[in-house]
Amino acid sequence: MKTKISMIKNVSEDEEKIREAAECIKNGGTVVFPTETVYGLGADALNEEAVEKIFKAKGRPQDNPLIIHVSSKKLDLYAKEIPKVADELINRFWPGPLTIILSKKDIIPNVTSANLNSIGIRMPDNEVARKLIELSQTTIAAPSANISGRPSPTDFQRCIEDLDGKVDYILGGEQSDIGVESTIVDCTVVPPIVLRPGGITLEMLREVDPRIEIDKAIMEKPSENLKPKAPGMKYKHYAPNAKVTIISGERKKTIEKIREMVHYNIEKGKKVCILTVEENVDEYTEGTSIVLGSLSDLSTVARSLFEALRKCDDLGADLVFAEGYEEKGVGVAIMNRLNKAAGFDIINV
Ligand code: TXA
Ligand code: MG
Repeated sequence: MKTKISMIKNVSEDEEKIREAAECIKNGGTVVFPTETVYGLGADALNEEAVEKIFKAKGRPQDNPLIIHVSSKKLDLYAKEIPKVADELINRFWPGPLTIILSKKDIIPNVTSANLNSIGIRMPDNEVARKLIELSQTTIAAPSANISGRPSPTDFQRCIEDLDGKVDYILGGEQSDIGVESTIVDCTVVPPIVLRPGGITLEMLREVDPRIEIDKAIMEKPSENLKPKAPGMKYKHYAPNAKVTIISGERKKTIEKIREMVHYNIEKGKKVCILTVEENVDEYTEGTSIVLGSLSDLSTVARSLFEALRKCDDLGADLVFAEGYEEKGVGVAIMNRLNKAAGFDIINV
């Protein structure tokens, strides 16, 4: 398949290109587009054949439901009922990195929802994304625009790397600002529950409903009696080819342990990367350090995490050692993604 690639600098100047991509969605095609969380791989959510193309392009398991993207807060076409708390969350956080799970109407085909009675809905805060949805005159189903299992793309070059030749259109835009996928809140249960942590933190959600909790299964290694409620959270994910290990604990001890493990493995001839922050980078004299951001603002770490995991592959790393983060604010989302990249291999020091 020949993939058309267009760069969008500005929504009004480049409207014709977005319109062309929207035509492609209307005709049942697949379009990669920027969002503020990660890039998405979209198709008309109401068109079964189009949605099947998404699963095929990504190599995505059929039992993993897609979320749909809207450009208006009017959801009665797609959702059976909108509980008051969902309405409040929508008014507070949309457009933005928050997906709300609601009971779905029959207009949403079973392929899109992977046979669930519910559907995840999100209004992205990226103007290109919203323009694309608006011009497509439908709702766009879109998972992250990566090959299943790889880190989600926050840069359009990574979408080209994964999906060139497998999709109809790639709309390139700016680097994703949030860097981790949307927070998912299941509003079909009372009180609502967070199925995936993201840029909208638990602290922020609790300002709307203090009873909101995070699905316990997602922060621990999944087991037979503790299964994540979002089907996608059970798969190995975000993993570079290298083996990732998290070292977590008090700062000095973490650095000491990483230095020791890096030294040991370099002696054995391994190629080693370290995922660190501005405050700690000077402490490492061996291995290849990748600075994610600053401890003074963890959103900088979230923004560059997936790109850093992909960089480890570019560098041909055998092993990656990542510093752990306090599970507070966006630190919860960072640790969730790191844990999955590491297959829950974490050393507490
Ligand atoms: O930020 C995002 O949400 C990005 C951008 C492109 O919008 N999209 C994204 O989609 O991350 P995806 O498919 O990579 O992740 C969607 C997650 C999966 O873990 C899936 O299992 C879960 O949402 N999910 C979708 N519908 C669900 C439902 N009805 N009930 C429970 N979990 C659901
Ligand atoms: Mg994904």
